[in-house]
Amino acid sequence: MGFLKLVPAHYKGPSICVLPKIADFLLFNDCRCILVKMTGLRFAWFYITVLLILTSFVAARRHNLKILGLFPHPGISHFHFFHPIMRSLAERGHEVTVVSHFPDKSPPVGYHDISLGGKETLANTVDLQIFENRRIYNHFVEFFMLHEWGKVACNHTIRSDALTRLMRQDNKFDVILMEQFNTDCMMGVAHLLRAPVIALSSCALMPWHYERMGSPIIPSYIPALFLGQSEEMSLPGRLANWISFHVLKLLYDYYSIPAADAILRYKFGQDMPSVGELAKETALMFVNQHFSLSGPKPLPPSVVELGGVHIQKAKPLDVELQRFLDNAEYGVIFISWGSMIRAETMPAAKRDAIVKAVKRLKQRVIWKWENDSLINKPDNMYISKWLPQRDILCHPKVKIFMTHAGLMGSSEAAYCGTPVIATPIYHESAKAVSYAYKHRPQTALETATWWVEYVAATEGATLLKSHSVHMSRFTYYCLDTYLVLSSVATLSILNCL
Ligand SMILES: *[C@@H]1O[C@H](CO)[C@@H](O)[C@H](O)[C@H]1NC(C)=O
Ligand SMILES: *[C@@H]1O[C@H](CO)[C@@H](O)[C@H](O)[C@H]1NC(C)=O
Repeated sequence: MGFLKLVPAHYKGPSICVLPKIADFLLFNDCRCILVKMTGLRFAWFYITVLLILTSFVAARRHNLKILGLFPHPGISHFHFFHPIMRSLAERGHEVTVVSHFPDKSPPVGYHDISLGGKETLANTVDLQIFENRRIYNHFVEFFMLHEWGKVACNHTIRSDALTRLMRQDNKFDVILMEQFNTDCMMGVAHLLRAPVIALSSCALMPWHYERMGSPIIPSYIPALFLGQSEEMSLPGRLANWISFHVLKLLYDYYSIPAADAILRYKFGQDMPSVGELAKETALMFVNQHFSLSGPKPLPPSVVELGGVHIQKAKPLDVELQRFLDNAEYGVIFISWGSMIRAETMPAAKRDAIVKAVKRLKQRVIWKWENDSLINKPDNMYISKWLPQRDILCHPKVKIFMTHAGLMGSSEAAYCGTPVIATPIYHESAKAVSYAYKHRPQTALETATWWVEYVAATEGATLLKSHSVHMSRFTYYCLDTYLVLSSVATLSILNCL
């Protein structure tokens, strides 16, 4: 009830009683009569403010938008980034339709699910064996794994009843939000529905996302996602990074785009434009990163950093867990490798090594472990297959978070200011990161809803579109200029000889 704060507590002027009706209209059902002390002038101000609040409230209600969310990827951790944005749009009074594998259990008014169900979701599916003996070509193996997932999700979604229902309803949407990750399949659907597209990336930008947004690829210090390098790279590191960036982009162009095109054309006919071209129409991209964690990068205004949008208000912990944390005299170490990875699949020798090491510690340890039992589990260890990560991380007794450095966990650790092992660079600066993470001109959710309404109001935010989207890479990176300059230089040197 922000407007009550207009009156300083120590003010001793005359009292008036604001009509209960105003209170009711503002939906503050708990205040039947608001006692406010103020002079005539202050009352006028108060009245104007109330009127302004009322008119903006009514205006916001009237201009509600029809918003569609298309999220065919079955990974729950990705959906944790999209879900709060879609919910928050519904809570602002918009009509929101969400096509996904994860129906909302208690949807707000205006939030409508169309479930893609019937397909196994990807939680706890990654086997740790694939991380044994990694080689450099594994990054490309990972690419093909993502590509395969993308193809399956595209095929499944395009043939689903959910999509048939959506297309049959003859819906007109003001704006479409969709995940852009390992396939651009949904750009075909957006093309048929004729609405501007906001892309959401629950990871940092993929190598194939930069050019469509007119964002420069600078492999000298921006690591390609797949290599896991830091910003400071040696020459061999930069060489590997350059090759990764461009090869992954090429692989995407030659495998993923034609695969999505084939599925879309099979369903909607041969005149469907290529999703490679449609992707250039993406009006805006929300990306789950924040400069405090992933480093400042040159981004066009159409790429908006929303890292941490999924972090919610604190919830009370389970009684047993709360006691385990509170009574930890020497602090707590929290180990979790995210929702996708089954820690249980780790080689027995490594598991036993962790158990043995924990036994020797004074600290208590919480471990995300997907089995009810763990051989030789020490007394100072708490295991569970599901843990409220955000609330554990913000507990003052938690000293270290050992993570696979997934974005969700890392951003929650950044928010809570908990040091992380996996990305040691920010151990010392956990506090600074936490400050930058919490202090923004707008919260991540407010930023998200503001931009969605902007794209809808401007029918695609054309002013944000960088001219470079339609340029060749050769021209974009001035390679033609370098070529001309070096030819001139070579010719003049040859002339002088
Ligand atoms: C798509 O799914 C159908 C039925 O499940 C299958 O027959 C077809 O081969 C799949 N197509 C692709 C490109 O995966
Ligand atoms: C838990 O581990 C035991 C022993 O390793 C195994 O037999 C059992 O199947 C596992 N249970 C689950 C639910 O994975």
